[in-house]
Amino acid sequence: MRGRVEAPHSNRRDLRNLRKLSTYLWEYRGRVILALACLVIAKLMVVAVPLLLKEIVNTLDAGTADTATNTGSSVLLVSLGLVAAYGLLRLGNSFFKELRDALFAKVRYRAMHRLSTSVLTHLHSLSLSYHLERRTGSVSKDLSRSTSSLSSIVNLLVFNIVPTIAEFLLVAAILLGGYGWHYTLVVVLTVVVYILFTLKFSGWRMQFRHEMNRFDSLANGQAVDSLLNYETVKYFNNERLEQSAYNQHLSDWADAGVKSQVTMSMLNFGQAALVAVGVTIIMMLAANDVANGTITLGDIVLINALMLQLFVPLNLLGVVYRGLQYALADMDLVIKLLELNPEIQDKPDAVDLDVKNARVEFDNVRFAYLSERPILKGVSFTVEPGKKVAVVGPSGSGKSTLSRLLFRFYDVDEGSIRVDGVDVRDCTQSSLRQVLGVVPQDTVMFNDTIRYNLAYAKSDATDEEVHAAAKAANLDKFIESLPQGYDTMVGERGLKLSGGEKQRMAIARVILKNPAIIVFDEATSSLDTQSEQTILEGLNAAAKIATSLVIAHRLSTITDADEILVLDAGEVVERGTHDELLQKLGLYASLWALQQRANKDKEVDE
Ligand SMILES: Nc1ncnc2c1ncn2[C@@H]1O[C@H](COP(=O)(O)OP(=O)(O)OP(=O)(O)O)[C@@H](O)[C@H]1O
Ligand SMILES: [Mg+2]
Repeated sequence: MRGRVEAPHSNRRDLRNLRKLSTYLWEYRGRVILALACLVIAKLMVVAVPLLLKEIVNTLDAGTADTATNTGSSVLLVSLGLVAAYGLLRLGNSFFKELRDALFAKVRYRAMHRLSTSVLTHLHSLSLSYHLERRTGSVSKDLSRSTSSLSSIVNLLVFNIVPTIAEFLLVAAILLGGYGWHYTLVVVLTVVVYILFTLKFSGWRMQFRHEMNRFDSLANGQAVDSLLNYETVKYFNNERLEQSAYNQHLSDWADAGVKSQVTMSMLNFGQAALVAVGVTIIMMLAANDVANGTITLGDIVLINALMLQLFVPLNLLGVVYRGLQYALADMDLVIKLLELNPEIQDKPDAVDLDVKNARVEFDNVRFAYLSERPILKGVSFTVEPGKKVAVVGPSGSGKSTLSRLLFRFYDVDEGSIRVDGVDVRDCTQSSLRQVLGVVPQDTVMFNDTIRYNLAYAKSDATDEEVHAAAKAANLDKFIESLPQGYDTMVGERGLKLSGGEKQRMAIARVILKNPAIIVFDEATSSLDTQSEQTILEGLNAAAKIATSLVIAHRLSTITDADEILVLDAGEVVERGTHDELLQKLGLYASLWALQQRANKDKEVDE
């Protein structure tokens, strides 16, 4: 998948997603309820302000009319009291608003924390095949998306939409109670038309935002990929190619951005026009009534203040609604991700593997990554406890696949793989991987120190154990030669180490883990003959107690294997000990002859 494509999602899904989200919030229901109470109090105070304003105006108005009767000072006193109350209401309103936010902060951040944790846990539980198809950039977006969308949804819904609805209902009630239905009708009509216009128009212009998002993630994915492959880009002199692809995506993004901005301006202007019409009509009604003497001067102040107040949050409705739509779309992606079932799952009755005899059996294993292209076509072999079986064969014949299947990164299509007699599908993945160790074909390191990367095999390893493992893997001299020794950073993915150094790190790790079964996938392919000899000793020391499956390129490293399998195009074409295979004069014998000759040539050259 190249980047993110926003799928249309239904309102029903949104509701279901919201219900799911509310379980994250409901954990702190005490706080939620308190925060909602603050919200209601704050809103009541907001609406009370114009009411008070009306009283002030009316008192002052009456006061100016009554000056002749000398009640001026008492009027002043009453209105001063009202003004003070007005000030207090404003203060109280902002106090409760801030209190609400402060109370809700914990609910919100804890929920974000929990959601992100479960997204990461879930990403870890998804199968290798899922991750091979994803881009690193888009996976890291999944994580940030989960926190940002939850935060926006809570913000917009709890702090914007619900309070606005509450305020609207209060205003409608005041108008209906105090001034009659025609005021209410104008307000309700204006608000309804406003909302419908906003929703329709916003819905239409969402497409430009989607386009923007799509091109944005294409461009980002492209840039991240080209930087991850920095060396490859340089080898092939393809900077231009990478830049022009990026440039194209960004230019499409900019076009969509312009359309998005223009339609946004149209929307904003339409909204402003509707508000202007509504407020004008109301004020005309009020002016008329004041002239008739049916309502007071204070009333017109009240109505005006209520209207202006009501449309302030409504003005933001467009932004809020759009924000909510994006956040819901994002949340939908996050929840879809959480609902994705890992292809490889522990059975409900999976047992914990308790290995006594570390026998590994491949029983007529058939496997294909893609059903049209079988990779293993009925492979059978047994590695007896403590023995060493080697697999050789041409590139692409399926050797590393054997190791991936043993680790259960994929499930076999037919046949079975057993460890100590237990099918790997019947035990828990974690207990299986606990007894397995691997020196992989390509070792990748964490961007941390050498010590961290070594101790990764055993989190409670002491320094002595780490040093001993490094020594056994012939790494000690190299590490001592580094100015920062074990604290040297290895660079992203371990790029600051040479191939052979990385391989020795991997060997040291396995020695530290000390598993019952070890897979060596071309463990010494990047080493020169001399260090290979030294390491072979370490390897053999590690392998002596362990059952080992050795995938080898250089046949000289496996002459002592208990059995050698020659794998060709997914089938075992020859098997036996080194001597038996030499006598057969088959594929193995010819490979051996070839390598021996190459070695001789090398010696002559040197
Ligand atoms: N995830 C995957 N999806 C599809 N095909 C794959 C996948 N991984 C490997 N393959 C294919 O499966 C075949 C066997 O791969 P495998 O890595 O087992 O080869 P190998 O024998 O270890 O080769 P080499 O000696 O080069 O390491 C290859 O042709 C490879 O292209
Ligand atoms: Mg391989």
